[in-house]
Amino acid sequence: MSLLAGFTVIGGPSSEQLARRVASRLGSRYVGCDLRVFPDGESKITLKGKPSGRIVVVQSVYPPVDSNLVRALALVSQARKYSSQVYAVVPYMGYARQDREFLPREVVTMSLVAKMFKAAGAARMLVVDIHSMTALKHFQFPSKNVTAVGELVRYFKKMRLMDPLVVSPDMGGAGRARNFAGLLGTGYIALEKHRDRRSGEVTIKSSTNRDVRDRDIIIVDDMISTGGSIVKASEHLRKQRCGKIYATCTHALLIGDAEKRIKKAGVSRIVSTNTIPGRTAMVDVSPAIARAIA
Ligand code: R5P
Repeated sequence: MSLLAGFTVIGGPSSEQLARRVASRLGSRYVGCDLRVFPDGESKITLKGKPSGRIVVVQSVYPPVDSNLVRALALVSQARKYSSQVYAVVPYMGYARQDREFLPREVVTMSLVAKMFKAAGAARMLVVDIHSMTALKHFQFPSKNVTAVGELVRYFKKMRLMDPLVVSPDMGGAGRARNFAGLLGTGYIALEKHRDRRSGEVTIKSSTNRDVRDRDIIIVDDMISTGGSIVKASEHLRKQRCGKIYATCTHALLIGDAEKRIKKAGVSRIVSTNTIPGRTAMVDVSPAIARAIA
């Protein structure tokens, strides 16, 4: 463990526990904050201490997305008053799926979000398994993506799985599945997913895959939001008589009854990281974040 003297980690309201772990791994000072939400929805944040030296602000942008985004920007802006070296760590970067114009006249909001972090005073950005590298390119200042795949694989290595097969629910995630499988020492496949851009409905277009039969499956994705992708992938794999199905991702948003629907589709366990706290957040990403900062 490196001791980064003169470093302060500020834990935003959405990432307090994770920020504490990052501070402890770095051997840095930790400063928390108080959050008060006014009746009209405005956030009022007060730092619990005075930061000094270089400052790391840790605040994920998960629901309520816009509120957590403003809180992240407010903390970066406040930190900038104490230091010119502000490192904005946004473990889950909301809006990263709006990284390009999919349909005519759509607003590419990721571009605005990136500009706002710069305007608020961030000198550097760190994100974890951002949805796409295109999203990262919107940051016109030093920015880095770190992956939690190593940490997730460590969790699965401790389990006794039957001839596991790693599955990406879509072709876009094939690289992630390949990395995961490589570290786990097993094979992988990628399904062909189609999402209707207007309705959001997901369909799996892949045909039968003989590799699947009787094997335990780990479906790997960057994030689970409504659960639609995992549900369709599980249904597809179960028809082919696979073994147990596990679903893993870095960011588990699990909107509405997603968890219930995923379990109903035959998934035995959902394993995610603490970029978004919750029942499935069994894997700690602070080692990856601390390594990247140090
Ligand atoms: C899509 O490209 C992403 O990698 C995820 O597969 C997707 O965002 C998950 O969303 P949902 O859980 O709503 O299907």
